[in-house]
Amino acid sequence: MRRKLAAGNWKMNGLRAALSEVELLAKAQPAPNCEVVLCPPATLVRSMAKVCVDNCVTIGAQDCHENSSGAHTGDISAEMLVDAGAEYVILGHSERREAYGESDETVRLKAKAAWAAGLSAIICVGESEEQRRATNTLDIIGGQLAGSIPDAATGENLVVAYEPIWAIGTGLVPSLGDIGEVHDFIRMRLERRFGEGVGRSVRVLYGGSMNPGNVDDIRRVPNVDGGLIGGASLKAADFSKIIAALAA
Ligand code: PGA
Repeated sequence: MRRKLAAGNWKMNGLRAALSEVELLAKAQPAPNCEVVLCPPATLVRSMAKVCVDNCVTIGAQDCHENSSGAHTGDISAEMLVDAGAEYVILGHSERREAYGESDETVRLKAKAAWAAGLSAIICVGESEEQRRATNTLDIIGGQLAGSIPDAATGENLVVAYEPIWAIGTGLVPSLGDIGEVHDFIRMRLERRFGEGVGRSVRVLYGGSMNPGNVDDIRRVPNVDGGLIGGASLKAADFSKIIAALAA
């Protein structure tokens, strides 16, 4: 049985004042059936980890460098994130793939570094609008999975997030059938590459405009093990509704 996961991606949002939202979230009824991970900007990782030390919210980051230290101005290593209190890191988000030209190979190296430091990686895959129109979505996803995930994947160190690029921050969501098709495909590929045991234990999240109004339908799609939630994770009131729906 895979435990549901609600992962909040705060992107480049949040000053210290926003820690009050995390306090509210942490005070809300814990949902044992659903793990909760918040991924704030790097500047808040340490203070958020402190707020969450005695509750059921785990902290993640949004990126790491593939090297553990060295002359990389402006970058942050996986080891530093662990030192600051992170247990997860999002890798290969489409916003980074697009803005920084991160390739599957870069994402794979970052995932290796994350694992070496003891972080679990939430590796993102997803097709653009043009790719979906050209109906080669599964080819795109298959290529990203093969190229971005290192060989040593386990159910503990890997989470895959399927995020259609055109659904991120737009309010658009694929049909439940389309979500199901991609999630079944990801599960099949994970089982084929890593064996049934590992392939069945890796959680596969849906991401892209998930909100309190659509989570209940999306969570019922087979092979959807939770969500990677952007905008709707910023306010405790919305995010706790999503958590409660995933835990139901
Ligand atoms: P969204 O973002 O929920 O605001 O669409 C999701 C994401 O980019 O991870």
